[in-house]
Amino acid sequence: MSLSMKDKIIQRFLLARGEPISGQQLADELGISRTAIWKHLQTLQDEGYEFITIKKKGYRLVSVPDRVDAARISSYLNTKRFGHTIHYFEEVDSTQSIAQQLARDGAKDGTIVIAEEQTGGKGRMQRPWYSAKGKGIWMTVIIRPNILPHQAPQLTLVAAVSLVSAMKTLYKNFIPEIKWPNDILINGKKCAGILTEMLAEMDRVDGLLIGIGINANHELDDFPEDIQSIATSIAIEEKQKVDRAQLVAEILKYLEHYTDEYVANGFAAIKRLWVEHSCTIGKRIKATTIRETVEGEAIGITDEGVLEILLDDGQIKKVYSADIEI
Ligand code: BTN
Repeated sequence: MSLSMKDKIIQRFLLARGEPISGQQLADELGISRTAIWKHLQTLQDEGYEFITIKKKGYRLVSVPDRVDAARISSYLNTKRFGHTIHYFEEVDSTQSIAQQLARDGAKDGTIVIAEEQTGGKGRMQRPWYSAKGKGIWMTVIIRPNILPHQAPQLTLVAAVSLVSAMKTLYKNFIPEIKWPNDILINGKKCAGILTEMLAEMDRVDGLLIGIGINANHELDDFPEDIQSIATSIAIEEKQKVDRAQLVAEILKYLEHYTDEYVANGFAAIKRLWVEHSCTIGKRIKATTIRETVEGEAIGITDEGVLEILLDDGQIKKVYSADIEI
């Protein structure tokens, strides 16, 4: 894991879970001088970490800023590769654009780009994605699975299954559902979305950028008025504030696990999990594509992640990209 010295220090305090650590012990463990440790602690205080000095024992970390930085995420991380390189920003245009550049420059499988705020967040179908400061998880995971370009949409479904699995592990007051293709809903309102972009040649995937946007700690009036009736956050539904760094680590754990499962054994298990958590399949829906609006019963998804709708005249319509009303 590539952490800066400052992040290593903070990670050490986070792992100590409130116990004091002496300056000398830190200096010995990290191989730097006590003065250097003291300077890093000053910088950390400026960033919002609070320490108190305990006589003869050292420093105790007493409060942590609410951020999704590398130190906080890696203190929860339990993965083989994913999240081992973290690019953290206070503010970006879009984590997708930064990830795209990093992927072109050879970033490793599982590298993440995460920001407190996006000023030009991108949603599916060229829509803007509202990304309020410090409230959500705005992250792109660069993955480099050995797959062919036509398999890429299946990885979006892998990501949706990973998100619901992470939420079900951490939160007990609601059941998240997947709305085709990959919106995550809680009680019928959208709390997360996934945007997958691909770097590929005709016959080879160089990398996928899995963009994940989650409304985590929003209150209702943190959302623009026009989406207040259709959007929600985990905190609203769980009735408790979310530890965003913990959720990021949990998502990375499932994303790594299900991506590896998919590459090793194919799509069947992922498809089963996707259907199990879907709120679309088996329902009467209205699908609006760029060309037309069709109504019928959503009967399943194909191995390409295409939605199949049984129309009233008995025809089965395949829908590749659409807005769905249930
Ligand atoms: C959707 O339309 O539902 C997909 C939303 C995806 C938003 C995420 S936030 C992190 C990443 N960066 C972006 O600009 N978009 C994705």
